Amino acid sequence: MYITVTNYKGGVGKTTTAVHLAAYFQRLAPTVLIDGDPNRCATRWGETGRMPFAIVDREEGDYQARNYTHVIKDTEARPGLADFERLARGCDLLVIPAVPSRLDIEALKLTIAALRTVGTDHYRILLTKVPPPPENDGAELRKLLTAAKTPIFRAEIPRLKAFEHATAQGVPVYEVHDPRAARAWEAYESAGREITNERKK
Ligand SMILES: Nc1ncnc2c1ncn2[C@@H]1O[C@H](COP(=O)(O)OP(=O)(O)OP(=O)(O)O)[C@@H](O)[C@H]1O
Ligand SMILES: [Mg+2]
Repeated sequence: MYITVTNYKGGVGKTTTAVHLAAYFQRLAPTVLIDGDPNRCATRWGETGRMPFAIVDREEGDYQARNYTHVIKDTEARPGLADFERLARGCDLLVIPAVPSRLDIEALKLTIAALRTVGTDHYRILLTKVPPPPENDGAELRKLLTAAKTPIFRAEIPRLKAFEHATAQGVPVYEVHDPRAARAWEAYESAGREITNERKK
């Protein structure tokens, strides 16, 4: 499986998503994370040596990918309009993290417009940093996207401090000492399971 994580927008959880999907797939078979962002966030995250999967930068990525069953690629924010099509052709699935907030919605609209030429079985939106009830921004965005027939994960990633600790400590979220760390990890596990279950059909 070759998965690319992308979005127009910065800070929506692309690297966090790439890291945790890589952790999920590594439990199934050897997995490499390609750090496609020149800022090298995932690489820095992995410098602790506490990531359970291999991390390589984009220059060596294509060559190294041959040695792994699963490849997860993190990308920088804002690929050009045409890039989504090319990105989609270069992987099995584009995962598009999206934050349900008014600030992010315009960027999401642009992203979805750019995805129109990409087949709906080639990409899927993942709601991230979803605020807890009574805020219902997550549910509202899901309704909107579903009405627009945009493919979307049933799983969604809650907004939890545990993820920030994971970034700061350079570990997957299940290694963080936080009462909500297990819930945080289960959210990404559910997203990963949706991908693997689909492929089994
Ligand atoms: N579900 C979440 N809940 C709370 N914080 C989160 C969540 N996901 C990510 N974060 C935090 O938000 C910040 C940005 O996340 P991340 O680096 O994954 O985003 P990004 O889209 O890769 O950003 P960039 O565009 O800069 O590469 C990080 O500090 C991360 O710890
Ligand atoms: Mg990033």
